[in-house]
Amino acid sequence: MTAKIIGIGAYAPEHIVTNRDLMEFLDTDDAWIRERTGICERRISTQEGTSALAAEAARRAVKDAGIRPEEIEIIIVATSSADRSFPSAATDVQGAIGADNAVAFDITAACSGFIYGLHIMQGFIQSGIYKTGLIIGAETLSKVLDWTDRSSCILFGDGAGAAVVQAAETGVIKTLVGSDGRKGDVLYCQARSLKNCITGGKPELGFMQMDGQEVFKFAVKKVPEIVTQILEETNTPGEEVQHYVLHQANTRILESASRRLKVPMEKIPVNIDRYGNTSAASIPILLEEMKRDGRLKPGDKLVMAGFGAGLTWGAALLTW
Ligand code: ACO
Repeated sequence: MTAKIIGIGAYAPEHIVTNRDLMEFLDTDDAWIRERTGICERRISTQEGTSALAAEAARRAVKDAGIRPEEIEIIIVATSSADRSFPSAATDVQGAIGADNAVAFDITAACSGFIYGLHIMQGFIQSGIYKTGLIIGAETLSKVLDWTDRSSCILFGDGAGAAVVQAAETGVIKTLVGSDGRKGDVLYCQARSLKNCITGGKPELGFMQMDGQEVFKFAVKKVPEIVTQILEETNTPGEEVQHYVLHQANTRILESASRRLKVPMEKIPVNIDRYGNTSAASIPILLEEMKRDGRLKPGDKLVMAGFGAGLTWGAALLTW
């Protein structure tokens, strides 16, 4: 048995922030952002936190799957921007959707989070421990952005995407994940410091810090590497793959992957223009869009690949 995605849902906050809106308080430029990143606008949450976005995406995925919430045995939320340190966003979702029989927990693997979640779920399903699960990528990174840092804040958006997976004969063919903790300083967000009344000083919370060029160099090398690896290890000719669903971080990274992999851009879907980088949510948001507009057909083969802070990376090959 393997994990098959049987339902998909996505939800993004209504409030749209265009590049021109950013120009009102930031020394930036619409043309610069479009040329360097492909982003035109992003959704920014004004009311709802990560758990609320995750719960709505989950409801939509459960509806799409045609199952009852009580049938879900495990909920994994991949997020780097949970509303609270504890309890988890996953238990918030469990309560909100009435998945009373599920075990629920969060994982943090930044933009690779959805693939990590699928990798973990695949292990549970292959081993027979669970048959039906829910994986959600959800972020409100707008909370942790330094809105005075034009080199990072222009890149990100808020949103959530969810997938219901179930044990089946066909579905995930292989997942692979990896991490390199030596490169943790390339992209990070400081959480609470050790400052308190015992150690001295007031607790501090940080904002995201990013060495954009280092992340860029890592991504353009790593994405083709893991896509090639997963195809080779499963003896899958690249031509048999209909869709290369890559984490939406920057269109230049997607175009570079297209060149290096010799895969036409028609096979690499893009929606970063409308959402920005939604981190762990980007792949399931894109999948939902592709299913809704009829691009994803039963039997299609697709490769998904993500990369992000950690540094982390992950890829999955599956039959839809
Ligand atoms: N508007 C206008 N000018 C800007 C902006 C901006 N928003 N940001 C930077 N610039 C300026 C810089 O100050 C610099 O000016 P200078 O030459 O006078 O010093 C110039 O533009 C070039 O800056 P670079 O940093 O060299 O620009 P680059 O082409 O590298 O693009 C970018 C920057 C878009 C951040 C790119 O490096 C990138 O996309 N990196 C990947 C980032 C990423 O994907 N992060 C998410 C990873 S996933 C996760 O885990 C969250």
